[in-house]
Amino acid sequence: MGDLNRILDSNKAWAAERVREDPEYFKRLANLQQPEILWVGCSDSRVAANVITGTQPGEVFVHRNIANMVVHTDLNLLSVLEYAVNVLHVKHIIVCGHYGCGGVRAAAGHQNLGIINNWLRNIEDVFRFHEHELMAITDEDTRVDRLVELNVQEQVLNLAKTSIIQKSWQYHQRPTIHGWVYGLETGILKPLMRVEDASAIDKVYRYDNL
Ligand code: CO
Repeated sequence: MGDLNRILDSNKAWAAERVREDPEYFKRLANLQQPEILWVGCSDSRVAANVITGTQPGEVFVHRNIANMVVHTDLNLLSVLEYAVNVLHVKHIIVCGHYGCGGVRAAAGHQNLGIINNWLRNIEDVFRFHEHELMAITDEDTRVDRLVELNVQEQVLNLAKTSIIQKSWQYHQRPTIHGWVYGLETGILKPLMRVEDASAIDKVYRYDNL
């Protein structure tokens, strides 16, 4: 409990500091949530969305899972996406991967990890789509980091393949979807790509009765 008491104490100090700076801080936040950004990131404890972006509570709606995946059968992700796009009306979605991602490294390896295999299989599919490029990279860390980037790219496109996004693009011209990668060793976010309409995805994924 010692460690948890430290967390509770630091929470009290944080809350007191907020109120000292702005007596209405919590009252205002409690009454309104108006984030303009949905963050889809990795669960890795070192890639905390608000901390690394210097954003405040209320600014970013967050979904995190192992290796920042967008899986079409994931009811959790789909519910977050539906709420973010159609209730919060977010302007931007950021899919943020990170170099040295353990989930991506595990997917590139061959160890049986039990139930986690089923989640990592989605990244193995990304590997297979880009096998030619990846197998030409001899250094293992470099290959994993390239797979991190390609995985971000595929997850951005997976968002674009949903009817939720395609419908919002057609009727509201939002959100813009961004693919970023975070460097654990530098603390820097690197933008890789962004997509704003369905031309980014193959025709086979497009709906015509949105
Ligand atoms: Co990770």
